[in-house]
Amino acid sequence: MSADLEFPEGFLWGVASSAYQIEGAFDEDGRSPSIWDTFSHHPGATHHGDNGDIACDHYHRMNEDVELMAELGVRAYRFSVAWPRVQTDGRGPANEKGLDFYRRLVDALRALDIEPVVTLYHWDLPQVLQDSGGWTNRETVKRFEDYVGIVSAALGDRVAKWVTVNEPWVAAFIGYGNGVHAPGISDLGSAVRSAHHLLLGHGLATRAIRETVGPSAEVGIALNLDPVRPASSTDADLAAARRTDAHLNRWFLDPVLLGSYPKELAEECFGLVGDDFLHEGDLELIRSDLGFLGVNYYKPRRMAASSRAKVFSGERPSYESWLGVEDRPRDDIPRTTTGWTIDPEGLTELLLRIRADYGDVPMYITENGAAFSDYADPTGAVKDPERIAYLSSHLKAAHAAITAGVDLRGYFLWSLMDNFEWASGYAQRFGIVFVDYRTEKRIPKTSAYWYRDVIATNAVEAALNTEKH
Ligand code: FCB
Repeated sequence: MSADLEFPEGFLWGVASSAYQIEGAFDEDGRSPSIWDTFSHHPGATHHGDNGDIACDHYHRMNEDVELMAELGVRAYRFSVAWPRVQTDGRGPANEKGLDFYRRLVDALRALDIEPVVTLYHWDLPQVLQDSGGWTNRETVKRFEDYVGIVSAALGDRVAKWVTVNEPWVAAFIGYGNGVHAPGISDLGSAVRSAHHLLLGHGLATRAIRETVGPSAEVGIALNLDPVRPASSTDADLAAARRTDAHLNRWFLDPVLLGSYPKELAEECFGLVGDDFLHEGDLELIRSDLGFLGVNYYKPRRMAASSRAKVFSGERPSYESWLGVEDRPRDDIPRTTTGWTIDPEGLTELLLRIRADYGDVPMYITENGAAFSDYADPTGAVKDPERIAYLSSHLKAAHAAITAGVDLRGYFLWSLMDNFEWASGYAQRFGIVFVDYRTEKRIPKTSAYWYRDVIATNAVEAALNTEKH
């Protein structure tokens, strides 16, 4: 065992999920539709026309799922609260029946010594709020603050760790920018405005949680952060990488940690789409004394300069055409079934960069994982050596960052079980537990047993043996 890479004492080993991706029970106990209900029912919006009506039926199988986590030795569970479940009209009083589900979930977790980590917004905006503009409307930020007040009052005595918003870049630029996600709007100006409101929502949510729960609450945000590398060393490609980094990463890291937007890009961006949504005092609220930074890491980007197109609205405008850049992932390294390159070094690079540029921020990896073509073999077993290799290499990469001095406090594997992967429907399986969607049977994959051993030993084996599990 001496060759194993040990993690610091108390390192928090978790799994992650989100409400719309697993809960199902779309119209039960007073839940109203979210933008994802509307969007996924729109013909052609998702792969195969899949939707989250039933998903993993977690709403009805919650106890079984919590027991499964306990069997694997999982120490923390990051889940999200569905806003339309707990505040049906997106405003006004709480729906107690909806809140009860999360009260029971938190109690079930606590009873088995699993720490609940609550995400407040993982993309399922009440449709009723989208009907008046959704995140493009500043009023939604106020609504979000009220909703966060309700949830933190209900769960605050049993929950210490909170994630305000999950991946505001994706919610804004994929939801309101290119329209591939709900609400399916294609307009870059709307995306920029929504991104600002989501960040402001983070700031106001942080304040609301601290007011309700007290100063001991640990509040963070989960950002999708991609290390950005140039496709070549030409000046044009170097500039393309810098612009992409300013857009994807610094557009969120800078306001949250420094209280400003990256100047070079901000001038250009606001020149194009305006900045009437940016009110005095917003940036101070967004820079809200962060308890921790949640890092969602899947893959790096490799950018080249490309021609710019004047597409700010209409048919699927992309940030690439806006910035005049193009992602050219390496084709000489393996990929997962989502097409994402497998690049664990990117994780070390990213964590070190955050420390170098923003100082000693406490961090959690709030998501990391991979989709592969998993299936139950004739004996009923699901063997996923590729996922074990992926996870092992990424944990080693995280370990390297810790050794280099990064204050990394935990790791949340995406995901506990296969689930509704947004526009990709059920085709992409990210779980360490296989879900047979015909029967809703859960089958732990070999990676689940591997992860159980990692947690039990607080270490990752230096020499990986995927046959062992
Ligand atoms: C992230 C999302 C998460 C899941 C993973 C694969 O962008 O936060 O819900 O879909 O990707």
